[in-house]
Amino acid sequence: MKAQDIQNVVCVGGGTIGASWATYYLWKGLNVTIQDINEEALARAKTLIDSNLDFLVEKDIITTEVSNDAKERAVYTVDMEKAFTNAQFVQESAYESYEVKQKIVSEVDKYAPKAIYASSSSGLLISEIQKFSQYPERCIIAHPFNPPHLIPLVEIVKGKKTSDEFVSVAYDFFKSIDKEPIILHKEVPGHVANRISMAVWREATDLVLNGVCSVKDVDRAVCYGPGLRYALMGPHLIYELANPDGIIGTIHHLGPSMNSWLEDMKDWKKIPENAETIINEGLQDEMKNISPQELMAWRDDKLIEILKQVGKL
Ligand SMILES: NC(=O)c1ccc[n+]([C@@H]2O[C@H](COP(=O)([O-])OP(=O)(O)OC[C@H]3O[C@@H](n4cnc5c(N)ncnc54)[C@H](O)[C@@H]3O)[C@@H](O)[C@H]2O)c1
Repeated sequence: MKAQDIQNVVCVGGGTIGASWATYYLWKGLNVTIQDINEEALARAKTLIDSNLDFLVEKDIITTEVSNDAKERAVYTVDMEKAFTNAQFVQESAYESYEVKQKIVSEVDKYAPKAIYASSSSGLLISEIQKFSQYPERCIIAHPFNPPHLIPLVEIVKGKKTSDEFVSVAYDFFKSIDKEPIILHKEVPGHVANRISMAVWREATDLVLNGVCSVKDVDRAVCYGPGLRYALMGPHLIYELANPDGIIGTIHHLGPSMNSWLEDMKDWKKIPENAETIINEGLQDEMKNISPQELMAWRDDKLIEILKQVGKL
């Protein structure tokens, strides 16, 4: 299969992530079938997809014609045979459970043995899912960042039995629809971006528990400091630019100091019991003048501006 031949995508599960994926694939002109467990779930998926498309129109990202055309191309069904027949790419975003995903991959086997099966799973291993497929070579993880109709990153992970050929088709496919795919060389829980987010959150939380800073000030430190640069370049490039001799100069110059920070930083393996209460109290203060809904709307508006600035919209 070639990436450019992929026209028919099935989104299994039309929840938060599945509906957002479907929005994106429809926007990019593909034929999309949304399959879910019952009519109520499908109705919820349709509401989400329509409102995502309306939002893109409202923000001048797509025209009303593109949105109307996208809505007409969407097919909603609970019927697996109807959904998977003719499928070339299956984006599975059902519940985060081996049992559920293993059952789905075996259903995809029946009706679409040649389609790529791409799971959105945030943390499960594709090696465990593909054990339930007769065609494990076409099974991958294609993990998005929420919401996939706006955030470009897709993490592609191969399992023990995935063939490089399908990984490469999936990579080319995502590139062809303006995503930013990365390929992991081996499976690790949480893939790449969630592990980095977790490392930052562990330190951000520990700084609060350790009495160094308030929740609000840790958040401000990230936003108005490294966060601004992270939208433009990753941590390696940032340290490369921190010294005239690049990363080597940075490590030579700051290394001893960095080692003392590392020695002092926590490496807890479980979220401490008091974290929930203490961080929640801090958040109540940080959010006292704004509702979560207002904050989300503000976040999405600004996200669009940033994506435009970095040429991703
Ligand atoms: N929420 C996030 O931020 C996020 C980000 C990246 C990846 N993911 C991953 O995406 C997947 C879905 O997460 P979500 O947050 O959208 O969950 P969700 O609960 O919002 O949606 C899950 C959907 O799957 C449907 N479903 C369940 N079993 C099914 C089956 N057997 N066949 C068809 N549909 C089925 C449900 O009815 C529901 O509509 C998970 O694997 C999760 O790890 C989530």
